[in-house]
Amino acid sequence: MKIAVIGGDGTGPEVTQEALKVLEAVSKIDKFNYTLNPLDWGSERYMRTGEIIPGGGFDLLRQHDAIFLGAVGHPDVKPGLIEKGLLLEARFKLDQYINLRPVKLYPGVETPLANKTPADIDFVVVRENTEDLYAGIGGFLKKGTPDEVATQTAIYSRKGCERCIRWAFEFTRKRNNPKGRRLTLVAKTNVLTFGHDLWMRTFDEVAKEYPDVEADYNNVDACCMWMVKNPEYYDVIVTTNMFGDIITDLGAMIQGGMGVAAGGNINPDPGGVSMYEPMGGSAPKYTGKNVINPIAAIGAMAMLLQHSGQPAAGDRVLTAIESVTGTKMKSQAAGKMGYSTQEIGDLVCEHLTA
Ligand code: IPM
Ligand code: MN
Repeated sequence: MKIAVIGGDGTGPEVTQEALKVLEAVSKIDKFNYTLNPLDWGSERYMRTGEIIPGGGFDLLRQHDAIFLGAVGHPDVKPGLIEKGLLLEARFKLDQYINLRPVKLYPGVETPLANKTPADIDFVVVRENTEDLYAGIGGFLKKGTPDEVATQTAIYSRKGCERCIRWAFEFTRKRNNPKGRRLTLVAKTNVLTFGHDLWMRTFDEVAKEYPDVEADYNNVDACCMWMVKNPEYYDVIVTTNMFGDIITDLGAMIQGGMGVAAGGNINPDPGGVSMYEPMGGSAPKYTGKNVINPIAAIGAMAMLLQHSGQPAAGDRVLTAIESVTGTKMKSQAAGKMGYSTQEIGDLVCEHLTA
């Protein structure tokens, strides 16, 4: 397995280090080989060279089996610039059309939802990752005048929604939730009567091929309500890019925050290159203090393994994370974990069971 590693900015390299530590430990147990290709992409390099991704960067990434990304974002660089230049570019150029976001409350982790336990908060959001308002289609008319008009167009293609919906059905089937397999389409068909009509019709058609999966529908506003009130209702959610962006931040909060939430930008096609990352940002104020929580990054590594041909190793890492959150960590907040960043990495390694 060839992994490109972009530690990135701020605390990104610190959490990446711990994820790599766990990778090394689990590779010995599960007996697989890998090579790492560290890339210095991020804000520092951008400030030095004016480039976010060096020329030929995507061809270079295509030579890997997977990409691990720590975090990007720097106080001296315009917010969003590197995120867009790296993350969104990768999604489009590498056609990473699935954004996978497990919303799982690990044992011992505090959720803001009263009386909810790990048994209640355990679902997965499958977000379409290449279309919708993210396509960058739009423009200005009479810019800078009192009569200014701006458009931002959401695009949805049959191919784009079908491949995502189909993947989500397959995923729901494989996940095989003992409480029942349910795939909920989250959209807004009552208002977005064209684009989300296409999604709904495609969903209904594909659903016929998966009689073993309950095909369910929620409007996005109702989904926000249920995620807080009855998160146990959900098994797998499939949704459009923009709504997926919003509801996955809600998901991250109910699972205990940015210190634990991980995600993958996946191109599941043969030869596709996927990128895994902790959801939290670069948290510049904690840089170099050895206090940031690496659990999200280690969780992202577990996802990388699960989706890159080492599912047993990925599951093993997840189980170790659950032991560490459940029996060791005092909190998931930076500086309040009861351990340093590096000690958490060590603890996860120690809890890997053969
Ligand atoms: C995410 C992020 C990105 C997005 C930003 C950084 C462009 O919020 O991965 O959810 O909006 O998709
Ligand atoms: Mn987001």
